[in-house]
Amino acid sequence: MTIEFAVIGGTGLTAIEGLEVIHREVVHTPYGEPSGPVTHGMIEGKRIAFLARHGYTHNIPPHKVNYRANLWALKSLGVEKVVAMAAVGGITPEMKPTRLVIPDQIIDYTYGRAHTFFEEGLTDVTHIDFSWPYCPEVRNALLAAAECAKLDVVPHGTYAATQGPRLETAAEIARLERDGCDLVGMTAMPEASLARELGLCYASCAVVANWAAGKDTDEITMAEIEQNLLLGMASARALLRALVC
Ligand code: HPA
Repeated sequence: MTIEFAVIGGTGLTAIEGLEVIHREVVHTPYGEPSGPVTHGMIEGKRIAFLARHGYTHNIPPHKVNYRANLWALKSLGVEKVVAMAAVGGITPEMKPTRLVIPDQIIDYTYGRAHTFFEEGLTDVTHIDFSWPYCPEVRNALLAAAECAKLDVVPHGTYAATQGPRLETAAEIARLERDGCDLVGMTAMPEASLARELGLCYASCAVVANWAAGKDTDEITMAEIEQNLLLGMASARALLRALVC
């Protein structure tokens, strides 16, 4: 049975409710070990693969995730479509905590991450097109699923990918807003561009965990993030179930 799509779970989503687990598979890649074994399962009669980006015990910080190994592992299993779940901070007024967002653009502020497969042993220099970093097919499937499940999602947004693991300063967020960013998170890059390099159709569902620095309270607490994620990820799970509706 072919895998319909893969889900990369982010903070707050280390398992999918309603997923009947078939087996877990350890995959070794030329780029090292993925964040954990890939979980094969069925959801609403469809075959999916699941990988927890930060590890099943949530112990790998964003700048230490082996993004190349994760995507290579999924590709090697025959996956073609990837839905990436991600916790983010909200910058612009629409991006309220607990909301779901299907972003359509990215600005990359990360550094020092292994960000390409096209590095060594090349016969030619390769430049992928990345004008539209998210794959329209999976984006549209996510938007259709939201409609099907009657979930309120923001259908667009520019994602600022920051290095982390610390949160940003208020001045950094003001700069990201001037740059045109709506959301801020730490994992979309290089995940999205590596997916494109492998020819995977990749899009994301972001869950707003908090107002970004300087946007609301003086301090962002982990308790606030966790509480909002609990609510937001419940909607995100409903969205994933509806992907097959
Ligand atoms: N900044 C960056 N990443 C995040 C945030 C944030 O405020 N919240 C959740 N992930």
